[in-house]
Amino acid sequence: MKGSHILSTGSAVPNISIDNVSLSKTLNTSDEWISTRTGIKQRRILGKSQSITDLAAEASNKALSNGLLQATDIDLIILATSSQHDLFGSASKLQAIIGAKNAIAFDITAACSGFVIALATATQFIETGTYKNVLVVGADILSRWVDWSDRRTCILFGDGAGAAIVQTDTGNKNDILSFQLNTNGLASNHLSIPYRKNYSNTGSIHYSSGRYSYLTMNGKEVYKFAVSQVPESIKKCLEKADICTKDISWLLLHQANQRILETVALKLGIPSHKIISNIQYYGNTSAASIPLALDEAFQSGHICNGDIIVIAGFGAGLTWGTTIIKWNVIE
Ligand code: UT7
Repeated sequence: MKGSHILSTGSAVPNISIDNVSLSKTLNTSDEWISTRTGIKQRRILGKSQSITDLAAEASNKALSNGLLQATDIDLIILATSSQHDLFGSASKLQAIIGAKNAIAFDITAACSGFVIALATATQFIETGTYKNVLVVGADILSRWVDWSDRRTCILFGDGAGAAIVQTDTGNKNDILSFQLNTNGLASNHLSIPYRKNYSNTGSIHYSSGRYSYLTMNGKEVYKFAVSQVPESIKKCLEKADICTKDISWLLLHQANQRILETVALKLGIPSHKIISNIQYYGNTSAASIPLALDEAFQSGHICNGDIIVIAGFGAGLTWGTTIIKWNVIE
């Protein structure tokens, strides 16, 4: 088996920023409620002339340039998203925009766990020797799928993209130390963008057509699920990698709610200064939140080579998963 490591990262957010005070002018909410219940202060929203692939391409190009690679060096693109511009997938459009003509490309739809699942998928192709350079992207624009008059959901989400290049390690050293993935489809109704059918018939032909509704979430249930299942998943993953909690340099969770980040850290005995958090600036960017925070933490000099990072995603599905990586990127 070959070893895999993260070569470089990149990220992108839209320019338009909406803070809590602006939201409270049109919605029955307040900066105080949003800040204390979630930690979010503002979120970025994609302009109407832009698409998710523009954002994903910007993050990908930064990761390529940081990794000193050309787009044509990429063998595989995995785009984790649940807000693609085309139901058939957006990865091929991304391939075309960045000019990665030698890459095959596909989407993974697993909401806020998407990046962790995509990273685990990428390592399979690398470890078996099938591909050498894999571009893994997490991108979501849930601002287009929330009901902006529903204060329970719209205040939470923002748009963004993050990318990582996963590469075969020439020394066969493996920096993706372990992963652990889970799904509980029985609870899928707690967080969903449901399809609503309309039944029609023309003569003897009965058919159904419909459209997607706005995002719906049972916040309390998802909160309880996150703070109970994520610590268990992390514990299992640490055990697999034979790593003690004290050896963890950073805890990087999906940026859903600052209270979730702190509760999970507390349950695991990880001190709060090891939590990576940028939720106040971007809100919940779904599949983008982990690679966006990872890239920012590295670019700002927090993460250093040799650090052990515990990464966990959780959300719709319900899905959740952890991966533990040793940081070893191009500096
Ligand atoms: O990315 C996928 C993963 N997602 C998550 O992990 C989200 C998990 N859930 C959460 O983070 C929290 O449940 C929320 C932040 C969504 C909600 O916080 P909460 O502390 O669970 O609040 P709640 O839903 O119990 O609502 C408490 C009160 C309610 O009023 P009543 O019924 O007590 O009178 C809500 O109507 O707060 C009210 N409320 C609001 N008030 C002002 C709900 N949303 C708002 C709002 N502004 N935006």
